[in-house]
Amino acid sequence: MLTSPRLLPFFLLLCAAVSLFPVSATDHIVGANRGWNPGINYTLWANNHTFYVGDLISFRYQKNQYNVFEVNQTGYDNCTIEGASGNWSSGKDFIPLDKAQRYYFICGNGQCFNGMKVTILVHPLPPPPSSPLAMEHNSPSSATPWVGSRQWGFRALLISLAMILLGSHWI
Ligand SMILES: *[C@@H]1O[C@H](CO)[C@@H](O)[C@H](O)[C@H]1NC(C)=O
Ligand SMILES: *[C@@H]1O[C@H](CO)[C@@H](O)[C@H](O)[C@H]1NC(C)=O
Ligand SMILES: *[C@@H]1O[C@H](CO)[C@@H](O)[C@H](O)[C@H]1NC(C)=O
Ligand SMILES: *[C@@H]1O[C@H](CO)[C@@H](O)[C@H](O)[C@H]1NC(C)=O
Ligand SMILES: *[C@@H]1O[C@H](CO)[C@@H](O)[C@H](O)[C@H]1NC(C)=O
Repeated sequence: MLTSPRLLPFFLLLCAAVSLFPVSATDHIVGANRGWNPGINYTLWANNHTFYVGDLISFRYQKNQYNVFEVNQTGYDNCTIEGASGNWSSGKDFIPLDKAQRYYFICGNGQCFNGMKVTILVHPLPPPPSSPLAMEHNSPSSATPWVGSRQWGFRALLISLAMILLGSHWI
């Protein structure tokens, strides 16, 4: 625990940092348990998710049967992979969403026409609503070290006084 009140601002800063920047990267599995396959409306899937920078999108499918291409809007609308900015084919592809932008992914072997296309909008910041609550929640508990350290300080003072007195006796 804290032994010096001088550490308190540091402790509070740490609490604030932890509550403001929760390290919770979400892995959005495309199609959930249905995976990346033809005949699924991925617009419905995407509408049911909120994407933030730092999250992952992952595609799960039969390797060698399907694949994933990152394209632009033209590629998404027309099911074409010309000028694709990325391609994956491991069957279990984790793609980091590191920019706040709209992403377009399609299957590159013709199955795009059977619905294997998904577009998502990645938002810039993690959701903030938990931080003010967390701060409020932290303040009563972080006030305790004050009392604790003050009591400790007082006891330490008494002990050192006692030791000085005893010491002076012994000398
Ligand atoms: C998928 O669902 C969306 C939202 O209901 C709809 O607008 C769209 O036409 C559907 N796409 C297909 C290919 O059925
Ligand atoms: C939306 O997400 C919820 C919870 O993750 C799930 O129960 C529901 O089935 C999803 N709906 C669709 C249309 O994917
Ligand atoms: C691609 O789709 C757009 C509409 O999004 C259309 O205007 C254009 O003609 C298409 N291009 C090709 C090469 O099919
Ligand atoms: C998408 O990329 C293709 C090929 O590089 C290009 O011709 C097209 O103009 C691009 N479309 C958009 C909307 O940027
Ligand atoms: C797939 O990506 C690699 C680089 O990662 C590139 O060399 C290759 O040409 C791409 N394939 C297609 C079909 O675009």
